[in-house]
Amino acid sequence: MLLDSIAALSAEINAADLATPAQLDAFRIAYLGRKGRLADLFDQLKTVPADERRAVGQQLNALKQAAQTRHDAAHAALEATAATSPAHPGFDYTLPPVPHALGTRHPLMLVREEMLRIFGRIGFAVAEGPEIEDDWHNFTALNFPDNHPARDMQDTFFVEGGGMVSSGLAGQPEAPKQPYLLRTHTSTVQVRVMENEPLPIRRVMPGRVYRNEAISARAHMMFHQVEGIFIDEGVSFADLKQTVYYFVKELFGADIDIRFRPSFFPFTEPSAEIDITCLICKGAGCNICKYSGWVEIGGCGMVDPAVLENVKIDPEKYSGYAWGMGIERIAMLKYQIKDLRLFTENDMRFLRQFESLI
Ligand code: DAH
Repeated sequence: MLLDSIAALSAEINAADLATPAQLDAFRIAYLGRKGRLADLFDQLKTVPADERRAVGQQLNALKQAAQTRHDAAHAALEATAATSPAHPGFDYTLPPVPHALGTRHPLMLVREEMLRIFGRIGFAVAEGPEIEDDWHNFTALNFPDNHPARDMQDTFFVEGGGMVSSGLAGQPEAPKQPYLLRTHTSTVQVRVMENEPLPIRRVMPGRVYRNEAISARAHMMFHQVEGIFIDEGVSFADLKQTVYYFVKELFGADIDIRFRPSFFPFTEPSAEIDITCLICKGAGCNICKYSGWVEIGGCGMVDPAVLENVKIDPEKYSGYAWGMGIERIAMLKYQIKDLRLFTENDMRFLRQFESLI
């Protein structure tokens, strides 16, 4: 009989313990919820004979009201106690708050992003590659002769193991072991992009590189580069110069001068080093620029036809330019940082200075 069920539920509701938030929650779900016991009884109303339904319905409504009132009163009482009794006795709520220690972006990342944004605006998309490389991508494809000093243990970190290169011919011995190495420049990614992507190619390759150097204020065994490459029909040195001019003026300001100094890299011909007005003395001469008024920010050149052949691009039809710059060097000039080691020491007094630049 529904009336009996109502009476039983009423007794249960009146007896329920509502001393804690968990009990209150359980009560609400068990009795007042959409799938609760009261809803269940309301569902059963339709089984009551029509002439009794009104009276039974009233009883049910009254019980629902009573349950809601109990719930609301207990809720209010709990809130009131929570407000007056501390959750952590003995804790001094009047103490000033401890500010959230927000991290800051690393200066190298700030500069990296800024460089990529500038190149991105003229259509250079980012390409990345592995830090552990093989000889082909780091040296051979880039036209380094076998006896080039950069291959030497002095400069390159080789990784133990390395893979055997099969000649692919039955009965033929395998070629000597090819050592793996930590890439010494991100030009490796230029090779990967040229090998794998359709022409024309317009890419920038940021990344970490390694060289076997003693760590000092001016040298590190790990640093970062942003290199770039553009390959299409009819690309000339004038295009390269324009790209470098645009980049330097965007990054350092319109009043900075740029100078190309003839140089040599195995993978470019002709090659140049890029100098800009010394940002410390504005060209007047200081010990940073060795009293020349100029500082070097990177290398560049026209991609050597031999490199294009290595990656199966026709040098008769296509030409291109490439460049490489060190992020640390540019960050040092931009923010006047005098010691390379600061970038890796994680001294908060140093890192916090870049907070406002985010
Ligand atoms: N790979 C060179 C280095 O690490 C930098 C460089 C110079 C890259 C000239 C280039 C380039 O693409 O054209 O020293």
